[in-house]
Amino acid sequence: MNLTELNVWMDVVFTGLYVVVIVALIVHFSFDIITGRFRKKWVEGEWPEHEHEIPATPKVIHFIHMVGIILLAISGMYIRFPFFDGGRVPMRWIHYVAMIAVTITLFWRLWYAFFSKAKDWREFAVGRKDMASLIAVAKFYAYLSNYKPHIAKYNVMQKLVYNVFLYLMFAQAFTGFALVTSPFIFGYSPRDLLVGWWLGALLGSTDLAGWWMRMIHYIINWLFIIMVTAHFYLSLTVDIPCSLDFFGLRKLEIKDGHGHGHEHEPAPHPAPAGGPAAIVETE
Ligand code: HEM
Ligand code: HEM
Repeated sequence: MNLTELNVWMDVVFTGLYVVVIVALIVHFSFDIITGRFRKKWVEGEWPEHEHEIPATPKVIHFIHMVGIILLAISGMYIRFPFFDGGRVPMRWIHYVAMIAVTITLFWRLWYAFFSKAKDWREFAVGRKDMASLIAVAKFYAYLSNYKPHIAKYNVMQKLVYNVFLYLMFAQAFTGFALVTSPFIFGYSPRDLLVGWWLGALLGSTDLAGWWMRMIHYIINWLFIIMVTAHFYLSLTVDIPCSLDFFGLRKLEIKDGHGHGHEHEPAPHPAPAGGPAAIVETE
């Protein structure tokens, strides 16, 4: 298979995969209705309880990332498939401005997680207790059980996904800058500096190294599209009061943690038997 054929295959495979993801989310939503979880939340107003307020800084950073990544996905897809006339210059501009904004805010988020006063990196660290709850959390999301362990602010699946977002953003920034071929850094281009000297040497040419970077950039583009779609769906269906608060649209009611008592342990009780969904603890 030559490189052009490989590109066409990727378009076919990822478009097909995206259709599968959308169908899966529709099926998932139907189960929300069938099992009564939808009614509990939207009709009876039984939303997950929260013990912590989310501070403003991560909300602002998240907002910049959200807008940035949506713009990058749209402009990036346009760069690959110019789906209307005359957009080439503005779309490339949008991609270049958004990529710089997203990369800077990525470092801001890491600084906030590790060096600010808030130092919230632990909220994203996956420990043994988190891993021990993985199956129970997955069963809850798959409607196989109505019990959802409450161990930390974010459940293990959220933590894992948020970590993957971080690595993907780094990989996307790296491969993206490796697509820039203007030699504006002492006569070298970002491509020369990031991949030319090692991957270029390994593969035989800097151009070929750039070709692979473009390929990976495109694959990660799809991973973002898929993951952000699922993340968006969950933010709309699992806990809308929390989502509204996260975007500064409505203040979340905070319960004090004392009523729960098992902040740091998986709760011992088994799933409530039968009946419509009783969401024990959710985030
Ligand atoms: C975060 C830093 C990022 C950087 C530095 C970056 C950089 C770039 C550059 C330089 C190009 C080539 C543009 C041109 O030919 O003029 C490009 C293309 C592209 N970017 Fe990005 N980008 C970033 C993030 C993203 C994200 C988050 C997405 C999608 C969610 C994305 C999707 C794409 C796509 C689909 C293309 C077209 C690739 C192709 O032609 O096969 N980029 N990017
Ligand atoms: C479609 C747009 C998006 C919506 C509606 C959305 C919604 C949300 C909501 C409501 C939360 C809070 C969850 C909670 O507190 O339980 C959240 C957290 C988070 N989201 Fe998004 N999101 C979107 C796009 C993105 C994108 C593009 C990324 C990253 C690439 C992302 C990464 C994260 C991360 C890492 C968190 C954890 C909280 C933090 O960063 O401080 N989201 N999102």
